[in-house]
Amino acid sequence: MTAKRLRLGVNIDHVATVRNARGGALPDPVRAAHLAIAAGADGITAHLREDRRHIRDADMERLAVELTKPLNFEMAATDEMIALARRLKPHAACLVPEKREERTTEGGLDVVGQENMLAPRIALLREAGCRVSLFIEADEAPIAMAAKLGAPVVELHTGTWCHAVADRHDGKAKAEFARLAHGAAYAASLGIEVHAGHGLDYDTARLLAAVPDFVEFNIGHFLIGEAIFVGFEAAIAQMRAAMDAGRGSVV
Ligand code: PXP
Repeated sequence: MTAKRLRLGVNIDHVATVRNARGGALPDPVRAAHLAIAAGADGITAHLREDRRHIRDADMERLAVELTKPLNFEMAATDEMIALARRLKPHAACLVPEKREERTTEGGLDVVGQENMLAPRIALLREAGCRVSLFIEADEAPIAMAAKLGAPVVELHTGTWCHAVADRHDGKAKAEFARLAHGAAYAASLGIEVHAGHGLDYDTARLLAAVPDFVEFNIGHFLIGEAIFVGFEAAIAQMRAAMDAGRGSVV
């Protein structure tokens, strides 16, 4: 059986990080989103954080109106963000944990502990037509809870595995890869669409693409960094090739 082509969602948050470093309007993250789509991205992800450290409200408004491919609005499950998503109606809303002091999203959403808080918020997003995705760890308990909460999509957190690969902790990397592969298969068996993201680069994206249950990868920081050296379009094309090569190794 040949697994389906993986979708690539490009996260443009760090174009906004560079813009905000100087306080002006450039580089424009919305221009980067258009360029990413022209280069082969299947969708765009942007995270409007509570502290607006990168993407801002005006960016989200423009992305929601201008994009020709699906917008994945990453957000904390706060009343403010839910209201904004209900107004902007992005294709997808990905709920993530958020802490002010963190540098980036650390760990998956605590869906088991926050079931009662999440259920009505997921219902509000679904009512507005958003495809709800929960960013969680690749363990059976949160995946089963995501199914119970009626989330059509989960995004499995790949950060721990990517760190282990980068640090050459082979044993940990192997165990983390197995955890991701098992989580993806378990989620797919429950009828949930499975995405992955956080910390992926060419090598890890190629390796993980061999797991046939993944449908979409969301990748940001590495691509924006690579763009400095090879250009944004070339980085996206190379990522696309890495994902296709990995998927081609599925037997
Ligand atoms: N998916 C989610 C839910 C994230 O929070 C992030 C980071 O914002 C990403 C994917 C992309 O991670 P990275 O920027 O490390 O590629």
